[in-house]
Amino acid sequence: MFLTRDSQKTIIHVVGARPNYMKIAPVMEALRTAAGVRQVLINTGQHYDESMAGGFLTELELPRPDQDLGVGSGTHAVQTAKVIVAFEQICLAERPDLVVVVGDVNSTMAASLVAAKLVIPIAHVEAGLRSFDRTMPEEINRIVTDRLADLLLTPSRDGNDNLRAEGTPEEKIHLVGNVMIDTLRRHLPMAGLARIRDRIPVNDRAYAVLTLHRPSNVDSVETFRDILHAVRVVSSTMPVVFPVHPRTRSRLKEFGLEAELNGAILTEPLGYIDFLSLTSHARLVLTDSGGLQEETTALGIPCLTLRENTERPVTVTHGTNRVVGTRTVDIVAGFEQALVSTTGGRMPELWDGHAADRIAAVISRFLT
Ligand code: UD1
Repeated sequence: MFLTRDSQKTIIHVVGARPNYMKIAPVMEALRTAAGVRQVLINTGQHYDESMAGGFLTELELPRPDQDLGVGSGTHAVQTAKVIVAFEQICLAERPDLVVVVGDVNSTMAASLVAAKLVIPIAHVEAGLRSFDRTMPEEINRIVTDRLADLLLTPSRDGNDNLRAEGTPEEKIHLVGNVMIDTLRRHLPMAGLARIRDRIPVNDRAYAVLTLHRPSNVDSVETFRDILHAVRVVSSTMPVVFPVHPRTRSRLKEFGLEAELNGAILTEPLGYIDFLSLTSHARLVLTDSGGLQEETTALGIPCLTLRENTERPVTVTHGTNRVVGTRTVDIVAGFEQALVSTTGGRMPELWDGHAADRIAAVISRFLT
């Protein structure tokens, strides 16, 4: 059937920061063949380094963004405001039938505010997650986005429970599973250690991976130092590979903590498949990332979360995650326990590689 511009539905997908690309890629792919749907991809440019943004777009075979808003770094207010101003122009020009936002970064909340004010429906992928810690900027982004969204696409049942407890009408909530795991499953066959060994000389299941970027961990010299002391203990047992986020690299320098990492293997941030190669062959992972808690659960690799809480409790109740906090003694104790533990965890419900198909079905129903 030939569709005129009027009968065609326009969906704008919004991405902006590193953890967004792997969530939007399978959703766009699943909607590619949906009848009468035109997809527009907007990159806010919250992240802009090739290693944090552009490389992911190419590697995950996302279409070239229709526009890059080029907002860059800034305070929360500046970054959020820049997205709001630029994204409003896009929405006024495109008049989309739906805006799809993912995750919990500043771009997610900013785009949602614009859409809501223009009375454009919003679909939020990864809805309902709560750390119940409002000192975390992402928690504010989650609460605001979920409050405004019309389709709340949750990765796990705890998300449904949180939304219900906040009074969200039942008909808005759709349990679809974890879309990040769609991307992980698709790329896992390509994730061999051989592709990174020239840069990172490690042996299968004989090393740890460390990632750190949360302001609460790396912007406080005391907390950062405590974590690095624990890392020194881990690296006396096995090599620790540490791909360093730009924020973390500048804090390491500013606080003069570089020498604390003498025993670790430091790298630039890695691309998606290189990083998956690294994590999927590791003995264990130490991290403050949200996505990595989920990926290690899907891979069955022990994970120590260097935070006081998690918005992803299913990775603890079902998966391989332990929330150990940031004190040296607690991280080391968690490490020792992880080494002797034999449980590989189990896969949470609907983390089956088909979340994007379920999302596409919910969206298609909504648009018709
Ligand atoms: C952001 C998200 C966080 C997500 C993380 C993944 C918010 C509030 N935070 O945090 O939820 O887990 O991305 O990485 O949205 N920088 C560069 N190059 C870049 C991007 C950033 O050098 O491409 C540097 C800049 O100095 C910048 C700093 O990193 O000030 C922090 O970047 P920012 O986007 O503000 O926050 P993230 O810590 O990356």
